[in-house]
Amino acid sequence: MAEFKQASADAPVSEKALTWIDNRFPLTKLWNDQWGKYYAPKNFNWWYIFGSLAMLVLVMQIVTGIFLTMHYKPDAALAFGSVEYIMRDVPWGWLIRYMHSTGASAFFVVVYLHMFRGLMYGSYRKPRELVWIFGCMIFLALMAEAFMGYLLPWGQMSYWGAQVIVNLFSAIPFIGPDLAILIRGDYVVGDATLNRFFAFHVIAVPLVLLGLVVAHLIALHEVGSNNPDGIEIKAKRGPDGHPLDGIPSHPYYSVHDVFGVVIFLVVFCAILFFIPEFGGYFLEFNNFIPADPLKTPAHIAPVWYFTPYYSMLRAVTDDMVNVFVGVVALAAVFALLKLRLSLAGKGGVVIAAIVAALFLKSVDAKFIGVLVMGGAVVIMFFLPWLDCSPVKSIRYRPGWHKGVLGVFVVFFLVLGYLGTQPPSPAANLVSQAGTLVYFGFFLLMPWWSRLGTFKPVPERVTFHPH
Ligand code: HEM
Repeated sequence: MAEFKQASADAPVSEKALTWIDNRFPLTKLWNDQWGKYYAPKNFNWWYIFGSLAMLVLVMQIVTGIFLTMHYKPDAALAFGSVEYIMRDVPWGWLIRYMHSTGASAFFVVVYLHMFRGLMYGSYRKPRELVWIFGCMIFLALMAEAFMGYLLPWGQMSYWGAQVIVNLFSAIPFIGPDLAILIRGDYVVGDATLNRFFAFHVIAVPLVLLGLVVAHLIALHEVGSNNPDGIEIKAKRGPDGHPLDGIPSHPYYSVHDVFGVVIFLVVFCAILFFIPEFGGYFLEFNNFIPADPLKTPAHIAPVWYFTPYYSMLRAVTDDMVNVFVGVVALAAVFALLKLRLSLAGKGGVVIAAIVAALFLKSVDAKFIGVLVMGGAVVIMFFLPWLDCSPVKSIRYRPGWHKGVLGVFVVFFLVLGYLGTQPPSPAANLVSQAGTLVYFGFFLLMPWWSRLGTFKPVPERVTFHPH
């Protein structure tokens, strides 16, 4: 057992209480390790606010979720009415509900920007691979959480959106149909589906999310934060052992974060009080109509944060599968001509290409679409090993690398927009191009990320005191 510390007799009661706790639980140590004396690079810019904002939104979603659960009824016959009751009769119910629904979209805005920051500054590179992987797991959990939450109001979009997405699982060969029944708990989306989605949405997934966020932060604080220069500040330490370019998070980044939180809340409240449905993007208009299994809406689209992936799913037609076969053939020819392979290696490439092409042509295009949609998220897990650039931050990469990142982002946004729109031949062509750009960005990264003239990375971070 560690030595008991003793507060001096004339110390304030608060200090005595803290000493009493610290002797039994490492409260001060936890605070200092994780925040108070956590030395973060002094050159953080505003891109570094989104992690803290994500935590804020997470807490807000949990608190508003608890209050919604007090009045919501997870029953197919009562759910829609209970949400209307919350909106009209429960005191401040409308505020709690809109905070939660707007909060869901805010969560994705903040997390997408947080991920983009990581992409710009190479924050996923060694030694932060696990920070990134926990982040990708958080992103998956967040998608599951949002998808299941959207079923709960039991509106037309809740119902038909879930129907479309759960049916996708039935495209998986052999196990698909049974898996879809397992997820639904029925042959169609129904009361059983609502009950299990409720259980997952209010307790199972939030627990996983919280655990992952804790792991994400412990991993980050173990290796230390990256920064806009992509320089490891731990490499240069002062006589006190602290990084020369580091400052304690408290009070410096506490103040910085409070400022960011205020700006975020101004924007959040403006949307919450004036345009909570955000023109049908945050809460779709069709979802104000009770679920009707006998009336399929003319146009079913998920909420905006899923639409880039939804576009990729729709982009995979039979024609697109032929393009994939062409890509496999090209990759095989490239490997045969450019890589110095042994005879056995060459044989392996040819066999792998034939197997891949046969697989692509023998299964339903819808299933390939499901694989593409899932693969679009899974591929992010491999980013730390796909990026072979000699520098981390975009600041010291060749200018055209910024162009590549820009093209990727533009196509991602275009895919997102097209996913909200009814399908058309022209839109489908653009979605197909977008899907190729998306996967090309990641899969060709080991090649393009090494190319070009890199700028010298300074020894110390760039910092201009204001
Ligand atoms: C609930 C969601 C999330 C929360 C609460 C969260 C929280 C945080 C916090 C507080 C930080 C430190 C402050 C900062 O650097 O901004 C951080 C850093 C980081 N997060 Fe997240 N995060 C979340 C999701 C994600 C996701 C989805 C990814 C990526 C797929 C990700 C990747 C990273 C990376 C790479 C860093 C280190 C950044 C650096 O040091 O430059 N996070 N996160």
